[in-house]
Amino acid sequence: VEDAVAPDGSPVELYLRVAPGPTPALIGAAIPPASSVLDLGCGVGRIAADLVGAGHAVTGVDNSPDMLRYARERGVETVEADVLTLELGRRFDVVLLLSHLVSEADDHLRRACWRAAARHVRPGGLVVVERFSPAWVRTVEPATRVRDGVEVELHDVVHDGDVVHASVTYRIVDREWTQTFAAIAIDDGTMAEEAARHGLVVERILDDEGELVLLRAHETEGAHR
Ligand SMILES: C[S@@+](CC[C@H](N)C(=O)[O-])C[C@H]1O[C@@H](n2cnc3c(N)ncnc32)[C@H](O)[C@@H]1O
Repeated sequence: VEDAVAPDGSPVELYLRVAPGPTPALIGAAIPPASSVLDLGCGVGRIAADLVGAGHAVTGVDNSPDMLRYARERGVETVEADVLTLELGRRFDVVLLLSHLVSEADDHLRRACWRAAARHVRPGGLVVVERFSPAWVRTVEPATRVRDGVEVELHDVVHDGDVVHASVTYRIVDREWTQTFAAIAIDDGTMAEEAARHGLVVERILDDEGELVLLRAHETEGAHR
């Protein structure tokens, strides 16, 4: 078992074990062939690897070298950096802001993530964000489930208006890791507003759960900067 943990508390072993599900195919179907793709918080390249396989040129950013080692093995061009202050000095056809970073309850952190995505997408390019479904944020209760051999226990759930505070404990064989988070419900209207503030327009929702949202950057640099 890989013991490393990223600075944000994400266990490397977890992301090596859990399959990416339909996300890479949904993203792949929404972006042009042979796109340049920037994956913010790429981890072990769980999502990015399939996009590399589909012929996209993927650059993955993460602040965990332990995560990036695996992403590199999977054909992702890796950059060890903090997403919040990232300045690559180049723009991409597509920017991925997954990992529920747009549901982060802290306004400053959330907006810094949006800004990082906005300053790395080319005019007219695409941004895919992954939020928690707003209904999930408002109603989720403690529960335990098993996914790809990993037991996932959600506990210490406290609802406070549109914000949920909770902890999640992952158990694999005889190891366990706990991460605590605070998420805010981002409704479609709020999503459109936050996007507009960063020069982006919502195009459509890509998945049945309403978590993956496709946005497009304005063709010209707008007044938002
Ligand atoms: C929940 S994991 C998901 C990884 C990947 N997106 C996936 O779906 O498999 C979140 C990743 O974001 C990285 N991360 C979190 N905050 C970050 C930051 N401020 N700068 C760079 N990486 C960050 C973590 O190290 C971790 O690898």
